Amino acid sequence: MDARGLVRSVRVVGTAQGVRAIRSAWRRSRTDADGLPRPRPERARVPGAARGAEPRPGGGVIHFARSSLRVRVAVGGAVFCGWDGAGPEPSYALAGSCPEPDPRAGLEPDKDGGWRVVSERVMVTVSRLGSVELRTPGGAVLRRDLPPCWWGPEDGSSVTRWVQRSQVAPDARFFGLGGRSVGPRLRDGAYRLWNTDPGAFEPGQDPLYITMPVQLVVADAGSHLVFHDNTWDGRVTLHEGGEGAGSGHDRPGRCELRMSGGPLRYWVVAGAPARILRGWTALTGAPALPPHWALGHQHARWGFGTEREVRRIAAGYQERGLPLRALHLDIDHHEGHRVFTVDRHRFPDLPRLAAELRARGTRLVSIVDPAVKAEPGNAVYDSGSAADAFVRDGRGREVRGVVWPGPAVFPDFTDPKVRKWWGGLYAERLAQGFSGVWHDMNEPTSFAAFGEPTLPRSARHALEGRGGDHREAHNVYGLAMARAGYQGLLELRPARRPFLFSRSGWAGMQRYGGTWSGDVATGWPGLRASLSLVLGLGLCGVPYSGPDIGGFTGTPSPELYLRWFQLGAYLPLFRTHASKRAGRREPWEFGQEVLESAREALARREQLLPYFVTLAHLAHRTGAPYVRPLWWQHSRDRALRDCDDAFLLGDALLVAPVLEKGARRRTVRLPRGRWYDTATGQAYEGPARAELDAPLGRIPVLARAGAAIPVVGADGGIELEVWTPAPGRSGTGLLITDAGDGWDAPEVVRLTVQTGEDGGPVVTRDDGGPAGYPLRVRG
Ligand code: NOJ
Repeated sequence: MDARGLVRSVRVVGTAQGVRAIRSAWRRSRTDADGLPRPRPERARVPGAARGAEPRPGGGVIHFARSSLRVRVAVGGAVFCGWDGAGPEPSYALAGSCPEPDPRAGLEPDKDGGWRVVSERVMVTVSRLGSVELRTPGGAVLRRDLPPCWWGPEDGSSVTRWVQRSQVAPDARFFGLGGRSVGPRLRDGAYRLWNTDPGAFEPGQDPLYITMPVQLVVADAGSHLVFHDNTWDGRVTLHEGGEGAGSGHDRPGRCELRMSGGPLRYWVVAGAPARILRGWTALTGAPALPPHWALGHQHARWGFGTEREVRRIAAGYQERGLPLRALHLDIDHHEGHRVFTVDRHRFPDLPRLAAELRARGTRLVSIVDPAVKAEPGNAVYDSGSAADAFVRDGRGREVRGVVWPGPAVFPDFTDPKVRKWWGGLYAERLAQGFSGVWHDMNEPTSFAAFGEPTLPRSARHALEGRGGDHREAHNVYGLAMARAGYQGLLELRPARRPFLFSRSGWAGMQRYGGTWSGDVATGWPGLRASLSLVLGLGLCGVPYSGPDIGGFTGTPSPELYLRWFQLGAYLPLFRTHASKRAGRREPWEFGQEVLESAREALARREQLLPYFVTLAHLAHRTGAPYVRPLWWQHSRDRALRDCDDAFLLGDALLVAPVLEKGARRRTVRLPRGRWYDTATGQAYEGPARAELDAPLGRIPVLARAGAAIPVVGADGGIELEVWTPAPGRSGTGLLITDAGDGWDAPEVVRLTVQTGEDGGPVVTRDDGGPAGYPLRVRG
């Protein structure tokens, strides 16, 4: 028995559940022993020598002695490579059907019996033995994929696993792979691709809830994103390279991807980071646009317990003049943990409560867990059984796990009819007055005393009608649940933008909403981990996320709580989370000094709301995350690539959170250009390392010279906070406004900031007209 697992099951679910968890884990291993194919003798296979090729639109197919490789450049420049006959579809990641091939890209013979496909943005060369090189149009190598190797039964009937090794530039840095607790730069090590509920996690814990075979590789010669479209369990091993610097050979960066099944197919998008994210979201879908209220402060508590307590907390915020845009109700408002069933003793009139809070500017968000209490008489169980909605094992029996309600069954979200049924259930949440949903435990988690806390790998899934088992469906379970929820909310309330965020997911999850850090451990390392998660996910195309401020496991010190709060105020999802175990998280619980500083952070967040709305639209249109690494516009600045402790919020702000106990000053690495400390107005010239004050009351935030930042003015209208351009320089700004919710086209205003004759900034629209908003000049 796995000791950690046992400890987790006892600690997390208590003794009675612990016993159930032991039984369930045992049942699961029995089910797998029956349901999974028995290991057979295997043989390795490599492609062998190229024998010929046929041109196809956008590229062609190269035939090798024992495999084939399809290369296809799509309109927009993304390159698809599929081995062994793999095509781009079906895919859970792609937003729709595969983009059209680029008619200008064609297959040509290359030297030494190889082939190449030349296109506007990349050149793909395939060697005679099956190495694939991707180069910039200038000829610099971005990555070299060595010939893959497959293993399968000796009769060659199927593939059981494969490996692909790749090389990148010696100076390259790796980012991405979903939500990782260390980073955003992914240092040497192995990273697993298997969505997992780790229990409360410390930095270094791997994997977590969202894993994705998406790597963003940043190097001097150019950057690229590579996405292996394969949902199976896998492992990525990374080794950064190094330059010989005159005293030795260069060592290329290395990446090894081992997958336990599924197709070997991948996409590469090359270019500057902003162009890569644009290309990536063109493939996998535009990030959902949150309603305005979801860009303000939100508070969750596991253990609100009663309607009275919810009212008390909301009143606490109001009395102290603290803005609160949403309260999140956790599982304890569900009767017996039955999802979609309100506990009417504790919450006798939720719709009224919701209406009252809403009148005061606070929405209610509901947790939704996928596990359905397996109990005849439970309406969701009964309707799901009638619709044949639950995952079954190889013998056709419902798969049972153990989650909060005890024995539970799991909807098969990979079945379109099940998604439809599940989406319809959200009518109950809307009728209760909830404005959004929070998907939890959807890795999916089933408590286990040993082994993995998930469903049996042999459990059957529809996989959109293709049929398959949990080995293939596991990693997209949360994604497919998000699709069901998003679609359901959209159909039930077509005039509103669904607000949904999900603990688990996969490539493409941004189409349905965002995510949050999950159960990050309380402590300074947890604070740092929560920043790396947000940055890493943003680079994988998921721009809306944030931490559980304060962490999940214990009571943070007032200082830690405040520093976390100050960071959260600059992240897209700004949520405090309290729990039965970790104590309260309302800002007034930590003393007067914390309260006053939290008030300031909240005030600045409210003031920046028009900027956050602009960034949300920008993410929706271009895939650019709100929160970006410092190298976003300067990816050749190697020092910035190594910098994990600060970030850009849009183009205009640089946020340097305090991540260390007791720190009252910190060093900030500045990208090129002039930056103003927003607290003191002091100017700094980058690239440089600046020492900035970070008193307990605030964290260092810098503004780019020449920025025009939309903010809320004293009268509640929009103003532009304009930061004086550096001498001889100009700047830009962007303002996107909308009605706060719904689908009407937003108004987009592009701004130029120049220095006028009197030395002050002059702001004009791109048609030359005046800005049309009051200016507040700074710097
Ligand atoms: C686990 C979630 O990560 C956490 O946020 C939530 O409070 C608990 N489940 C209880 O629902």
